[in-house]
Amino acid sequence: MSATSDPVTERHFQYIAERTLQEDDLLRSLKREARAEGIPAIWISPEQASLMQILLRLVKAREVVEVGTLAGYSAISMARALPPEGRVRTIEISPHHADFARRWVARSDVAGRVDVHLGDGREVLRSFGTDTADAAFLDADKAGYPVYLTESLRIVRRGGLIMVDNAFAFGQLFDEHPTDREVGAVRTFNEVMAREPALQSIIVPIGDGLWVGVKP
Ligand SMILES: C[S@@+](CC[C@H](N)C(=O)[O-])C[C@H]1O[C@@H](n2cnc3c(N)ncnc32)[C@H](O)[C@@H]1O
Repeated sequence: MSATSDPVTERHFQYIAERTLQEDDLLRSLKREARAEGIPAIWISPEQASLMQILLRLVKAREVVEVGTLAGYSAISMARALPPEGRVRTIEISPHHADFARRWVARSDVAGRVDVHLGDGREVLRSFGTDTADAAFLDADKAGYPVYLTESLRIVRRGGLIMVDNAFAFGQLFDEHPTDREVGAVRTFNEVMAREPALQSIIVPIGDGLWVGVKP
């Protein structure tokens, strides 16, 4: 027993990865084609996808909202953890990314379970009804996170789940002179999330740090 946690090292991540369900041919091909079309390789890892699927199953999620579709990797992964009538509403501001994701969702096993909404998360989220989702996953521009959180708290039902990516700010959380311009926004958001009274949440050290919050 220990009152502290062991630091998670590269080796631990590797160990976890080697013991996690691997991605199938569709997701492997999606990543290859996305790179070929110039889409940045900033999708979640298979380990993170697996954790998110487990959490979605635990809250018996049917309806999921996502901000930041990119190539559709996380949307397809999450949709696979939903029942057949389930749905992921995923929002993407880039027409190129949204078009790519739509094409790959259409050829996936969850074609009827993912709706790609083209637009700014700030606006599209406002059009979603209150208490219409069981879970939300925020993975877009970090400056938008506070607004996405406020909207998600309205959209996600009590007992639902709110997950937010990149709590470790692309590995630069503690850098004195970070090179990524979004690091400041992540640091600010982490304080907002830590103090949000409407959620019980914790950063899970997987991927680039995943905030997992439950709305009691
Ligand atoms: C990190 S990627 C998402 C990765 C994806 N969730 C996955 O793991 O497969 C971030 C995406 O958010 C999109 N994005 C950025 N600002 C946005 C906004 N204001 N509204 C919606 N999407 C936005 C970007 O174009 C990019 O495709």
